[in-house]
Parts: sequence; C-alpha cells; structure tokens
Amino acid sequence: VSSVHTAAVVGARPNFVKVAPVVHELRRRGEQVTVIHTGQHYSPQMADVFFDELGLRPDVTLAVGSGSHGAQTASALEGVERVLMDLRPDTVLVPGDVNSTLAAALAAVKLGIRVVHLEAGLRSFDRTMPEEINRVLVDHCSDLLLTTCGGANVNLLAEGLMGRWVGNTMIDSLAAVEPDYTVLDRLGIGEPYLLATLHRPALVDNPLLLEWVLTMLAALPYRVVFPVHPRTRVTRWSGILFCEPLSYREFVAVETRAAGVITDSGGVQEETSWLGVPCFTLRENTERAVTVTDGTNTLLGLDPGRIAEIPALMEAPKTGSQVWDGKAAPRVCDVMGGLV
Ligand code: UD1
Ligand code: UDP
Repeated sequence: VSSVHTAAVVGARPNFVKVAPVVHELRRRGEQVTVIHTGQHYSPQMADVFFDELGLRPDVTLAVGSGSHGAQTASALEGVERVLMDLRPDTVLVPGDVNSTLAAALAAVKLGIRVVHLEAGLRSFDRTMPEEINRVLVDHCSDLLLTTCGGANVNLLAEGLMGRWVGNTMIDSLAAVEPDYTVLDRLGIGEPYLLATLHRPALVDNPLLLEWVLTMLAALPYRVVFPVHPRTRVTRWSGILFCEPLSYREFVAVETRAAGVITDSGGVQEETSWLGVPCFTLRENTERAVTVTDGTNTLLGLDPGRIAEIPALMEAPKTGSQVWDGKAAPRVCDVMGGLV
C-alpha cells in the first residue's frame, strides 16, 4: 500500500454524494484522506444531513457560503489554497462542476499538486451555464480525468484531452444507500405521485417562468411533491406539496417510488435513469446525454407548456439504464493509484 495523501474537496450537495464512496474506498485501502468542505452549501439540510448519512465527516470546513460567482469562487480559492499549503497532499480530488470544484482545482494546480477530476468531460455545450465554464476549466487544469461515460471521453478528445472511464460514483452511493421510506408517511404522500426538483438559475431566477412551471405542474392529474432547494424560495402554490430539501435517504425513497420526476438537476437525471423512473428535464440541453440515449430521461426544453405532455409520455415504456454498475469507486482508486 502506497502512502499517498489525497485531499478531497467538496462544497455542494451533489459533491458529497459523488465523493463519499471514493473516500471510503481509499480509506479501506489504507490511504490517507483529508476531506475539505468549502462551506459553499452550509444549511444543515444541504450539508450536515449528507455528512451524517454518507459517513463523510469533513476534516476541515471553510466558511465560503453564498455570494456572487466571483466572490464565492475567490473565497474558496483563497481558503482551499491556505489549507493545501498547510497539508501538502499528493493529490487533490475534485468532483463535478460547482464553483468550489473550480476553486479547488485552480488552487491545487498552481501549487503543483496533482489534480484528479471526478466526472470529467461532461459538456452541455451551453456556456451560459456557470457549470459548463467550471467543467471546461477544471478539465483543462487537471492531471487525471475520470469519466462516467464514453461520451465524456469523446468530448475530452475533441479538446485534446484524454479521459479514463471509471463509471459513476454517484450511482455507487445510490446502490448502497438504504432509502428512508418513512418520509412518505411523514409527508403524507400517497402513490401515485410525481416528484419535482428545480434549482437552475435559468429557470428559478426568472419569476414569471417559474410561476408558469408551477401552474402547469399543479394542473397535472397527479399529486406533485416538491422538495425546495434554498435558491428556489417558493413555499406555497395551490395543488403542490412543498417541503424542505430532503435528506439523501429520504430523497432516494421519494425518487424510487415516484411515477415520474420533473427536474433540472444533473444528478437526478442520472439517478432516475438508473432507477428506471421516467424523468422529464426542464432544460434546453443536458450534459448527461447518456441518460436520454440510454436511460429514462426526456428533455422537455424550457417551454412550460410541454409539462402537459408528461402523462402521455409516461405511458411509453423505457427501461432503466445499464451503463452504471455501482462499483465505480474501486476503479477510481485503481486508476488514481496507477494500478491500471
Ligand atoms: C450550486 C451549484 C450548482 C449545483 C447546485 C447543487 C455553482 C455555480 N452552482 O448551485 O451547479 O447544481 O449547487 O445544489 O456552484 N443557499 C442556502 N443554503 C445553502 C446553500 C445555498 O440558503 O446551504 C441559498 C443562498 O441564498 C444562495 C443560493 O441558495 O445564494 C444559491 O447557492 P449557491 O451555492 O450559490 O448555488 P446553488 O444554486 O446552490
Ligand atoms: N438530493 C437530496 N435531497 C433533495 C434533492 C436532491 O438528497 O431534496 C440529492 C439527489 O439524490 C442527488 C443530489 O442531491 O444525489 C443532486 O443534487 P442537486 O440536484 O442539488 O445538484 P446537481 O446534481 O443538479 O448539481
């Protein structure tokens, strides 16, 4: 066993889910791992509940919090750099595409520390998405690019970069979690119901568009359950059951039993594809194209009128995705350790 020290830098809800299986596997192999949480997400329901449920206690927590892109990224850059200068890890592992991911990759590469990007090569080809900028920049300053699907390797090649396929560690977490079905009683949700989750700026930062979406959701012939991301700030709409962001175990329970899911989340497109639950994505494009070609995802675009088509579209049988096996983390560790 080598004595490599890896610092995993996380900041936002989806990061926790992606990194946890890798942190556990590295530790199982006797490697030294430090988990650095930037604090980009800080509300207990957006952070602490995930640390508890995923067994991912941060060793260092910074207080980056919310702010403009520049302020948030700069604060994370400065904070992560300080910690890395102190810890001097051999490798910095960064997952996904949030501002903390970009900050951590930049801090590490400038210190000459090896950067490993988990979930490299995804592209929406839409540069109005802040995440797309983060993905491109992180990939171009990383030393090792770990991908979830072949399409990501193709995207990287087109940019002169080489990816290594490992699979999807978010699905490792999903395969391993014990869903907390008591949430269905707690919220009083009877089947059949639809699950909605929305937080992309292009949708929720546009009040008129959001109201139109809510109107269309409320008119569907199903109960709609809507755990509200803090950015989205809606609490009341006749015909929709809103709740606080759910814990991971609760959310997976609600997602698994849903007749369909309406979302603009990246991770939820993948999870529903693996679970075989029909997913309707309210975006013009997706970096998770594989969930459309080999999963249960339908891209509806940003036209709320199309929400009315969901009941008919749900009738069309779609099989769950076979592209992920829930065993990506050991492959990540093998590739990171130069074993394969
Ligand atoms: C961030 C990521 C996005 C990811 C999402 C996952 C960026 C640019 N965006 O978006 O890619 O899909 O996380 O959930 O990195 N807030 C709270 N409590 C929290 C966190 C946020 O109240 O714990 C509120 C604040 O009002 C804040 C707003 O949510 O201003 C947005 O938070 P921010 O971290 O900037 O971006 P997200 O929309 O969460
Ligand atoms: N999730 C959760 N509770 C919720 C909503 C989402 O636990 O109320 C989980 C979901 O299962 C997935 C991750 O959070 O693992 C997705 O995060 P999010 O949609 O915030 O970010 P994105 O994937 O769009 O970047």
